[in-house]
Amino acid sequence: MVRLRAGRLTGLMTTTQQGLTVVTGGTGKTGRRVAARLAARGRPVRIGSRAGTPAFDWEDPASWPAVLDGAELAYVAYQPDIAFPGGATAVGEFARLAVKAGVRRLVLLSGRGEPEAQAAEREVAAAGAEWAVVRASFFMQNFSEGFLVDAVRAGVLALPAGGVAEPFVDVDDLADVALAALTAPAAPDRVYETTGPRLLGFAEVAAELSAAAGHEVRYVPVSGTEFVAGLVAEGLPADLAAELGALFGAVLDGRNASVAGGVAEALGRPPRDFAGYARAAATTGVWAR
Ligand SMILES: NC(=O)c1ccc[n+]([C@@H]2O[C@H](COP(=O)([O-])OP(=O)(O)OC[C@H]3O[C@@H](n4cnc5c(N)ncnc54)[C@H](OP(=O)(O)O)[C@@H]3O)[C@@H](O)[C@H]2O)c1
Repeated sequence: MVRLRAGRLTGLMTTTQQGLTVVTGGTGKTGRRVAARLAARGRPVRIGSRAGTPAFDWEDPASWPAVLDGAELAYVAYQPDIAFPGGATAVGEFARLAVKAGVRRLVLLSGRGEPEAQAAEREVAAAGAEWAVVRASFFMQNFSEGFLVDAVRAGVLALPAGGVAEPFVDVDDLADVALAALTAPAAPDRVYETTGPRLLGFAEVAAELSAAAGHEVRYVPVSGTEFVAGLVAEGLPADLAAELGALFGAVLDGRNASVAGGVAEALGRPPRDFAGYARAAATTGVWAR
């Protein structure tokens, strides 16, 4: 169904497809789950990614209007990382463009304890649309779908995390919260601080992964410098490795070592636990040697 409504800032009539949701990063860890949940409810979805149609690239603002054309809702997952320099500026520009294009509600995926990410949240809240922020802790799926999958397979987690504890969150919970925020009748206009149900140190995570994967996974604490050098040795460009090193140094300094209630506040149920995640991930064979 197609309906017409006025673009908020331009005053021009724009064609808005009822319920059409742009899902940026729509083939990624959170975005593909958000897109699948919307599609399962019969809602129209447009994937915002470089491989999408139209192609959408965070690095190319000229590609942004086409992906927003006619959309009513948007899920915003920034690339490469919302905490990197420039993240807040890009997200703010995208949010304001979305509002001009007639987008009624924006749901931003953000990160905990990251100044650039919190700046991006403020940009979205001030853009002129209804909004919600899903402010996530460290994803469980980093170990099975993200940058740590090879490390788990190899059995060595070398991270600059010392003895810090982290409330790892399941991205299926993030997708559930994002879906609820996108589809709730009333504007959320709030931050959901989304973590898992318990704090785990990386040594405990390694033990959980060992039990699930069926081979030993060791946690080896390394310095920030060693971590960055390891990323470069694996082929990551030096500037990206340095930014990741800075990010890890910040978010794993203990500032995020607390659980928060965003999943229960949004969904009325507790968040998923790491042990269940690890068992389910292992059954897919992702860590098989
Ligand atoms: N990992 C964590 O623990 C964690 C915690 C808190 C917050 N976050 C935040 O989560 C966000 C990432 O979300 P995610 O993990 O769901 O995504 P992801 O899995 O990293 O994203 C991959 C998706 O992004 C698209 N993509 C990659 N580069 C792009 C570009 N230049 N322009 C447009 N699309 C691009 C990919 O499609 P194409 O290849 O087709 O473009 C794909 O759809 C980041 O902003 C990060 O800061 C992560």
